[in-house]
Amino acid sequence: MTAAEFVATLGGENQAALRGLEPDATLKPELAGALNVPNLLKVALRNEIEATEIAARWLVATDDVRVKMAFARQAGDEAKHFRLIGDRLKQLGFDPDAIDPLAGGFGPLFTYLDSLTTTVERVAAGQFTREAIAVVKNRQFIEFCDRVGDKDTAALYRDTIEPDERYHHELGRRLLLRLATTDEAQRAATAAARRTLALAEELQKKALATAGIHHAPGC
Ligand SMILES: [Fe+2]
Ligand SMILES: [Fe+2]
Repeated sequence: MTAAEFVATLGGENQAALRGLEPDATLKPELAGALNVPNLLKVALRNEIEATEIAARWLVATDDVRVKMAFARQAGDEAKHFRLIGDRLKQLGFDPDAIDPLAGGFGPLFTYLDSLTTTVERVAAGQFTREAIAVVKNRQFIEFCDRVGDKDTAALYRDTIEPDERYHHELGRRLLLRLATTDEAQRAATAAARRTLALAEELQKKALATAGIHHAPGC
C-alpha cells in the first residue's frame, strides 16, 4: 500500500471504531462524582497535562525537525488548554490550583503511549488516533454543555480547544504520510492505533476504580 492509501484506510478504521462511542456512555465511567461540567473539566485537566507531557517527551526523543516541531506545537496547545480549562473552573467557583490532576499518577493510556519507541507508532497512536478520539469526545462534551445550558464552556471547546485537537490529528496525518511508507511501518502504525482505540474503549467502559480519572474531554 502507498502511504496515502494506508493513511486513508487507517483513518476509515478509526472513524468506524469511533462511531461506537455513545455520548453519555463515553463520559460517565471516567469521572468521580456527578456527571456535571466542573467534574468533567477536572477530568479534562488531567488529560491535557498527560497530552502535554507525552508530546514534550517525544519532542526531545527525535532528531527529525518536522516531527520535533509538530510535538512542540502540540505540547504548547495542550498546555494552553490546561490553563484555559483552569480559568473556566475558576469562573465556575473552583480553585484550579487546589486540584492536583496527577495525584493518581499517569493513566494507562499515557503509560502505553510512553512505551512506544518509534516515531511512526507515536504519531499513529498519539496524534492521528488519540486526537481523533479527542475530537469525537469534545463534540460530545460540547453537546453536553449545551444541554445543561453552560454556553461559555461550550464556546471554549467549540471555538478553541476542539479546533486545536483537530489540528493535532491533522499533524499526525501529515507525518504519517511521510513515515508510513513500508509494510513494517504500516503494520506498527496499525497496531499502535488499534491499541490506543482499545485502551480508550476499555477506559470508558470501566467503572471508576481506585486511582481516579482517566480519559475524557479534550486531549
Ligand atoms: Fe491535542
Ligand atoms: Fe488539548
